[in-house]
Amino acid sequence: MLSHSLDPDAAIRSTDSDAALARLSAVQKQYLTDPYIRHLVPRAHFQPPRPPLINVGTHARSTAIDGLVDDFMRIAAHSNSGGCQIVSLGAGSDTRFWRIATGELGASLVRYIEVDFPEVTTKKAMAIKKSKQLANVLGEPADIKIANGGTSLHSPRYHLISADLRQAPEQSLHAALSVPVPGGGLKDDTGPILLPHLPTLLLFECVLVYMHSDASNALVRWFVDYFHAPNSGEPAPLGAIVYEMFGLQDPFGQVMLTNMKARSITLPGAVPYPNFASLPSRFLQHGFQHAQALTLRDIRRKYIRREEVHRTSKLEMLDELEELELVLAHYAITWGVKVGRISGDSRWAAWKLQPAPEDRIEED
Ligand SMILES: C[S@@+](CC[C@H](N)C(=O)[O-])C[C@H]1O[C@@H](n2cnc3c(N)ncnc32)[C@H](O)[C@@H]1O
Repeated sequence: MLSHSLDPDAAIRSTDSDAALARLSAVQKQYLTDPYIRHLVPRAHFQPPRPPLINVGTHARSTAIDGLVDDFMRIAAHSNSGGCQIVSLGAGSDTRFWRIATGELGASLVRYIEVDFPEVTTKKAMAIKKSKQLANVLGEPADIKIANGGTSLHSPRYHLISADLRQAPEQSLHAALSVPVPGGGLKDDTGPILLPHLPTLLLFECVLVYMHSDASNALVRWFVDYFHAPNSGEPAPLGAIVYEMFGLQDPFGQVMLTNMKARSITLPGAVPYPNFASLPSRFLQHGFQHAQALTLRDIRRKYIRREEVHRTSKLEMLDELEELELVLAHYAITWGVKVGRISGDSRWAAWKLQPAPEDRIEED
């Protein structure tokens, strides 16, 4: 394998292991339930847990994004649109497809597309083929096709595709998503991989921060144009969720930057978002009508059910409460939706993270 100095992207790809190990740890420590993550982490049984602070953050992030995704899917299911599709950019070892497909909203999921660097998708495709628990959710063995020299995997609903998201999407994504499955032959295989008529949710979980805003703007713009092409009739609603760090110019943010730099990772994507108020602009600048953001700190205080905060606060001793607050205040979930004239009904405008029924709970 190339060292990080010869292959600067190796450091960025290594953040996938961080995310997967954090999720595995949160599952092992019972913050979250996810029967699939252990199949995507090599030697899962031997991996040491992450510190409590990381587990608490992973729980808040995952619970909130699950809530937003579920709500988006429910709105799509009630809008007679024939279901919805989800595209996860920089998906890494994420397990969301399997959790949704086997959950109560699984029937309304028409497509789930994941994109990452080829090194990451190749590893994931191999893990899927190796694990009956993962492969069974995709369909019969005959329905699962490995393509592009092992870097892509296609099945009737789930598609794993390799691309460098910094490259011009008119070439890279267009060639991969706006075409039918290469070679065809899949059940229900009609139309392009990315269906232009369905409500679509884009997930960017900790990925845009690693690229310059020119590249991430081009990426969002490509999706907007795909669904809102001129003369193509009423466009399908397009939602997006971004989770990442922001406000890195303060002393704590500078420490975060220094820590990443020590691993040869820079965060150019955080530069245009120096504070909380700047976050929704990442969608509003592309004509999304509704966009909002919440920090993980506020999410944990007001948007996670009181019983759940209480339950998780008993799982481990957490001494560093001040540090926890500082870390959580530097991560945000931002979401937005772009709707057409007819589909622009109040249900999409009301898509948001629902506050917990009770107010803040104090730490025990
Ligand atoms: C921190 S991980 C997050 C993984 C997953 N979204 C999650 O939250 O569990 C970031 C992922 O983005 C991918 N990534 C970063 N920059 C990318 C790029 N330019 N093209 C494709 N994938 C990229 C990395 O390879 C890695 O898998």
